[in-house]
Amino acid sequence: MAVVTADQGSVGELQRLGHAVILLGPPGAGKGTQAQRIAERYRLPHLSTGDMFRDNIKRETELGRRAKPLMERGELVPDDLVLSMVEERIAQPDCRSGFVFDGFPRTLAQADDLERICQKHKFGSTVVVHMVVQPEMLMRRLTGRRICKAGGHIYNIYDRPPKHQGICDQDGSALIHRPDDSEGVISERLAAYEKQTRPLVEYYTVRKQLSPVDAMAKADEVTANIAKILDGAEISR
Ligand code: AP5
Repeated sequence: MAVVTADQGSVGELQRLGHAVILLGPPGAGKGTQAQRIAERYRLPHLSTGDMFRDNIKRETELGRRAKPLMERGELVPDDLVLSMVEERIAQPDCRSGFVFDGFPRTLAQADDLERICQKHKFGSTVVVHMVVQPEMLMRRLTGRRICKAGGHIYNIYDRPPKHQGICDQDGSALIHRPDDSEGVISERLAAYEKQTRPLVEYYTVRKQLSPVDAMAKADEVTANIAKILDGAEISR
């Protein structure tokens, strides 16, 4: 029986079906912002491959050592490194009820492999939310982004500034500027998206798994529209 509340949607039902939810869109589309909210709303783990790599870099692991120069240049990390990391993470018990991906898959090979992994672990069908945004907005969003060092809370100095400059409203920790949020690297990341990730729009359209969302709208509105898609997805399965 689904647990339906006014602001939380059908939490129990979405978990029971164990959907893989994918937020697909270019750097700066708002994937991280929305993944945090959707994960909280449906009580699912938020899996950000970018955060996983940044954590490996911080801990100075072999994976971090290999990913670091590529991320600094705005290039994608090779599929084999991404896939083994993701497969290991999805196998954890907290993913049995489903999960929200932010930044994965990013290539056709990653998408094929995700389907294989989901079938192996008997997850429900994949729901892909395509976050559609005007390309001109992305540079402003990314150069203005600031991230809380402790909790990953996301701000923007232009559109969503913290109450006190450089300090997270939620936990008081310092806000940082991601090293790959410089104009030159952002351009490379956007080019990598167009070349390697945009083909996934066609891939998931053909499979009838893609639901577009206007990611130019206010963040609360975007969250509400994604929730409508997810609530609709569980009803139709
Ligand atoms: P990753 O960390 O995944 O970065 P990304 O995809 O480039 O995405 P971003 O985190 O930059 O943007 P976002 O869409 O999450 O936007 P956000 O919500 O923060 O990847 C980094 C690197 O890791 C890659 O370059 C690659 O090297 C490697 N990597 C990761 N995954 C990989 C994979 N699968 N395969 C290979 N390599 C991989 O929002 C941005 C800003 O906009 C914020 O300031 C926010 O406040 C603001 N904002 C958000 N929504 C709104 C709104 N509705 N209105 C106004 N402002 C908004």
